[in-house]
Amino acid sequence: MNYATAIASAALLVITTGFSTTLLADKEEPVSTPWGVHSKPGVAPVTEESYRKECGSCHMAYPPGLLPAHSWERLMTTLHEHFGENVKISRKSWKTITNYLLNGAAGRVDYTVSNQMIHNIKGIPMRITELPYFRNKHQEIPAQQVTGNPEVRSLGNCIACHTQAEKGLFTEESGQSPAE
Ligand code: HEC
Ligand code: HEC
Repeated sequence: MNYATAIASAALLVITTGFSTTLLADKEEPVSTPWGVHSKPGVAPVTEESYRKECGSCHMAYPPGLLPAHSWERLMTTLHEHFGENVKISRKSWKTITNYLLNGAAGRVDYTVSNQMIHNIKGIPMRITELPYFRNKHQEIPAQQVTGNPEVRSLGNCIACHTQAEKGLFTEESGQSPAE
């Protein structure tokens, strides 16, 4: 195949399938990380008891490796206006938890999902559910399985679909069907 024919057939492929290679590449979110080769699977599970207690009562205690350090820092310094809630914790817990979150943040630990979560982020995201990698992986889930399902309610409710989320596992084998 010569160059011109290759271009022509590539163009035809776009017309007939509706996909261009750039679109596909965009959807697949290829991951380039500084480490990658020996990354541990998923994210590190939550190990800090005070974090589980103080930050796991309204929603699951999100593993630190799901957000970058800047995001945790901003979340921890704006707890009085936390998504419409005023979250109060003792000074001692605040220090322990902030330290725990910052040390385990995505970008500071080498886990596959942590590395992917910080891929292509802009600014300082306040939600895991707004990260590009997260959105990519969940955009095809119909609203009726999320907001329309009282057992799930929001995409932030990881554990409703990923039954092993607290262990830091999000793969297909670890369960993804929203609870009925
Ligand atoms: C009084 C209840 C409450 C407590 C306690 C609480 N949160 Fe939240 N949190 C919320 C609400 C409400 C939301 C928004 C939920 C939504 O819109 O889906 C939220 C959302 C979040 C999100 C974003 C989830 C997403 O959509 O990706 C993070 C991260 C988070 N909280 C971290 C924390 C941390 C860290 C603590 C402990 C310092 C904490 N939360 C304690 C109520 C709480
Ligand atoms: C309504 C159910 C539902 C909720 C809630 C949900 N997920 Fe998922 N998640 C899925 C499904 C289904 C997939 C598989 C998508 C795919 O790979 O095509 C998935 C894929 C993923 C993946 C990619 C796994 C892989 O190996 O490809 C990660 C990481 C993930 N979810 C993390 C989370 C986190 C973190 C939360 C909470 C902040 C969450 N999910 C909330 C259903 C859900």
